[in-house]
Amino acid sequence: MVELAPSILSADFAHLAEQVQAAADGGGTVVHVDIMDGHFVPNMTIGPPVVQSLRKFTKLPLDCHLMIEDPDKFIGLFAEAGADWISVHQEACIHLDRTLRLIKSHQCLAGVVINPATPVETLSEVLDIVDYVLVMSVNPGFGAQAFIPNSVRKIKRLDEIRGQRRLPYRIEVDGGIAVDTIPEVVRAGAEILVAGNAVFGHGDPRSNAQRLLKVASEATLLRV
Ligand code: DX5
Ligand code: ZN
Repeated sequence: MVELAPSILSADFAHLAEQVQAAADGGGTVVHVDIMDGHFVPNMTIGPPVVQSLRKFTKLPLDCHLMIEDPDKFIGLFAEAGADWISVHQEACIHLDRTLRLIKSHQCLAGVVINPATPVETLSEVLDIVDYVLVMSVNPGFGAQAFIPNSVRKIKRLDEIRGQRRLPYRIEVDGGIAVDTIPEVVRAGAEILVAGNAVFGHGDPRSNAQRLLKVASEATLLRV
């Protein structure tokens, strides 16, 4: 099943609750929360207090995408704040296996993220312990960037590997996801679509989310 994960990075933070509600009314089923520290990526966003406020407001899973250095220091804080899913960048983790197990020890789903320049092969030893793999289809740090087409090949490769190795991880894609890029990522095997600008950047988040999901479900039919 393909799910839409609206990314609040492009939402109006002064009206965050209403914006999240509108995206959920349009069919969004996961709230994607981008955490940036100004070191791992050249931008800064939010921390545990905002996750805690969102937790009180919504029952949807909170998908915390940590774009931070030394994530081990903060995983417990995000879990306590109410994160359901926590993903860390392969590039930021010296002891990736340990970090993923730390996430799981907090009863959160554990995800690993790869930047556009990072090969899928770097994940071969952790694919059996992750709940999801997030393929970045832009360089992380900002919303509304152009989709990097090479990501489609990486999604296909991850889909092949899970078939061959009979692994249950899900594939998420993040960056430049919109009506024009959804068909190819869904056909390649992505099932969690993160979208910031395409949901919150213009117009009504509810109808934007509905339109994206319609395109996604049409692409799913083509996949079979
Ligand atoms: C970028 C973030 C994304 C971002 C995607 O570093 O990880 O989640 O919100 O934004 P769009 O959908 O606008 O490309
Ligand atoms: Zn993200």
